[in-house]
Amino acid sequence: MTNVTKRDFRTLDDVDVQAKRVLIRVDLNMPMENGIVVDATRLERVAPSLAELSSRGARVIILSHFGRPKGPNAKDSLAQMTGPVSAILSKPVAFCASVCGPDLDQAVARLAPGDLLLVENTRFDPREEANDPSLAAAWAGNGDLYVNDAFSTAHRAHASTEGLAHLLPSYAGRAMQAELDALDLALGNPARPVIALVGGSKVASKIDLLNNLVTKVDILVIGGGMANTFLAAQGKAVGKSLCERDLGPLARSILVAAERAGCRVVLPTDAVVAKEFRANADARTIGIDLVPDDAMILDVGSNTIADIAGLIEGAKTLVWNGPLGAFETPPFDLGTVSVARHVAMLTRAGRLKSVAGGGDTMAALNQSGAADALTYLSTAGGAFLEWLEGKPLPGVAALKS
Ligand code: 3PG
Repeated sequence: MTNVTKRDFRTLDDVDVQAKRVLIRVDLNMPMENGIVVDATRLERVAPSLAELSSRGARVIILSHFGRPKGPNAKDSLAQMTGPVSAILSKPVAFCASVCGPDLDQAVARLAPGDLLLVENTRFDPREEANDPSLAAAWAGNGDLYVNDAFSTAHRAHASTEGLAHLLPSYAGRAMQAELDALDLALGNPARPVIALVGGSKVASKIDLLNNLVTKVDILVIGGGMANTFLAAQGKAVGKSLCERDLGPLARSILVAAERAGCRVVLPTDAVVAKEFRANADARTIGIDLVPDDAMILDVGSNTIADIAGLIEGAKTLVWNGPLGAFETPPFDLGTVSVARHVAMLTRAGRLKSVAGGGDTMAALNQSGAADALTYLSTAGGAFLEWLEGKPLPGVAALKS
């Protein structure tokens, strides 16, 4: 895939795992409805590491959190993941109902090379989120090696995501490796020009991200509700649109920072507006200077879509976070879907490297049918945002130390 020449972390290629007890941190925090996993992407991403470790004769001990439990409870038990993990690997997977202690010690002692053991929700033990060394040490006593395959939890300095990496020889799993390589390709060491598409509803949640991106990318396209805040900051009327009027000075300071850094900021030149926000509402496309007082901006207009498409054609690398309009509600999905399909087409043609991430972004790309065509689609939410903000991720930093 890649222009990564030298990695600053070790991978499964660098270690003999035969008969070793390997503690692997994965992220099985997946959406569930009525006890059924409704989006198994995260499991699909880590299955290759689990299968590889097992087939290479490791004793595989799987650690993950699920939800944000305040203590042990049946709803957040990882027992419910034993079936899906076993099904995707076509192998039996044992379950240990204790996070650590004698039960875990005995369950690990019973493992033969190639066996897999899923451990109860790490967050059932309060020492996990406190990154308490005593919990990491209890796990480390049951392991010879540590593998982190959970980029999506790498922004958390928890015992299983960070503490353990300091106690055992540590490696990136295949999913983590792919994620870090993709991120390097996108912002670390990208082919230029680099274009970023940033959308979503609020500037407030993306201040650090915007300030970081203007120093890294050549073109920054701002869409979604957050574009309204920038438009209003430039003195444009945005009617009843979602708009953080108090953030005008901040929006202007981001535009100044962009100009200083030589980053071109692109805002919508036309918009799809409606008087009410509901599916199939009466909508029309108008120039951005013509938004009536009683209307709200709900998507980018056709001229803006064409402009964005043209800019993407001139770029070599694209980073995307956040939808360009209210994509969950037709017809306001058109901007996001059209641009996603254009990105997919250029990526398939080998003309663009495209990396996207964040919960809504993933949903929007899935909805447009473009998800599979991207160079890389991150399953991470908070971790992807913090990476876009340029913050060090403790789980990644620990692998590199
Ligand atoms: C996620 O879903 O983004 C990760 O599993 C991290 O979950 P958290 O935000 O509860 O730490």
